[in-house]
Amino acid sequence: MTKGQKLLNWVDERFPLSSMLKEHVTEYYAPKNFNFWYFFGSLAMLVLVIQIVTGIFLTMNYKPDGTLNGAGIPVAFASVEYIMRDVAGGWIIRYMHSTGASMFFVVVYLHMFRGLIYGSYKQPRELVWVFGTLIFLCLMAEAFMGYLLPWGQMSFWGAQVIVNLFGSIPVIGPDLSVWIRGDYVVSDATLNRFFALHVIAVPLVLLALVVAHLIALHEVGSNNPDGVEIKKLKDDKGIPLDGIPFHPYYTVKDVLGVVVFLIVFSAIVFFMPEMGGYFLEHPNFDQADPLKTPPHIAPVWYFTPFYAILRAIPSFLGTQVWGVLAMGAAVVLIAFLPWLDRSPVKSIRYRGPKFKFMLVLFIVSFIGLGILGALPSTNARTVIAQVLSFVYFAFFLGMPFYTKNDVGSIPVPTRVTDTNAQRQIRFAVLVVVTIVAAAVFAMNV
Ligand code: HEM
Repeated sequence: MTKGQKLLNWVDERFPLSSMLKEHVTEYYAPKNFNFWYFFGSLAMLVLVIQIVTGIFLTMNYKPDGTLNGAGIPVAFASVEYIMRDVAGGWIIRYMHSTGASMFFVVVYLHMFRGLIYGSYKQPRELVWVFGTLIFLCLMAEAFMGYLLPWGQMSFWGAQVIVNLFGSIPVIGPDLSVWIRGDYVVSDATLNRFFALHVIAVPLVLLALVVAHLIALHEVGSNNPDGVEIKKLKDDKGIPLDGIPFHPYYTVKDVLGVVVFLIVFSAIVFFMPEMGGYFLEHPNFDQADPLKTPPHIAPVWYFTPFYAILRAIPSFLGTQVWGVLAMGAAVVLIAFLPWLDRSPVKSIRYRGPKFKFMLVLFIVSFIGLGILGALPSTNARTVIAQVLSFVYFAFFLGMPFYTKNDVGSIPVPTRVTDTNAQRQIRFAVLVVVTIVAAAVFAMNV
């Protein structure tokens, strides 16, 4: 026995290391037909690690202090400038963190979309999905609170607008918004508590939820692009006929995803960290000024679909609360997909025309709302946002009806099939064309 094996035995007698590795890595059998869409779970884990590590280093020099220094600049804002200009390597750490925030949403939106097209939320993966939606909620809270920390104009006014929304809730609203801020306006007290929540409280919950997400997934096993349950057909050793060990097959495949991701990530960090004002908004390069409201307050791009829904709903009976409720419902409804979808099949490959049609409408509505939420509102844009909000909700609330018995012409196979690259390319082209057309249209109305 080698020294390494002896050490492993010593550990195994005290901690189930080998059996855990077997269960979750070397003998975790995943369907052999994973495609491009299956990169995003491991990429989400990678971005989570990037955010935690860069966040720790940022915290070493950042100061959550809204008071003015001797030069009349808020200490928090000045500490970010200090990180960017004077701390060795500070600029790259900060740009990695700010780019990581946006890339987290890119990756997670694609990851969720995969769940949608392959019906991964359906029985028996309901809890995987519910943990996922809780992760999404946490991620939104984390990003929102992190955005206040640089204490720029958008940090301040963005937080002001969003916290004020809570004020429109009947009876408890006004007190609730004061309670959240710790003051009557966004202030130093708000900055301090958002810092505490951003660096420790929410990340802890996020990590715990990711662990729960993966435990739930490994309990039931992964879905796949065919939506075939591979555990149903096993060989005499109990190994799924269509399964391959996660390691080495998918560890190697995921490395490819990581490499491509890091190329894109580095290109952004090094060449366009502001991403034209979408990753780092231009007004945020000005220090927070409670006396000067920026002419156009828009949230960061990943919140804009929900923000557009909020703006689209008019006030009614003298309260704005309906918009707030609609925005909340738009997020919460996602968690209910497993029970809204009554289709007998999982994957889009074997679904009928009704689901496919509604899915295209949903993509158009989500991207359209995202574009509208980033632009200043006009009458025409408000009407379009109202129509798109209707489509968004119709996709979810109509689902029990249009998915019932909606099966395609090809029956679900018993074994997984090869992926159809052509179909994937056609789909990618459709999505890109839709985005470009919607952006051009929205800018012109
Ligand atoms: C920090 C965020 C997240 C991390 C680190 C993460 C991680 C993962 C990983 C590693 C997998 C297995 C690999 C894969 O299937 O791609 C997975 C699967 C899955 N995730 Fe996530 N996830 C996150 C967020 C979400 C969200 C927001 C949702 C949905 C609301 C979600 C829904 C799912 C589903 C349904 C599966 C199973 C997919 C299948 O088997 O087809 N996840 N996740």
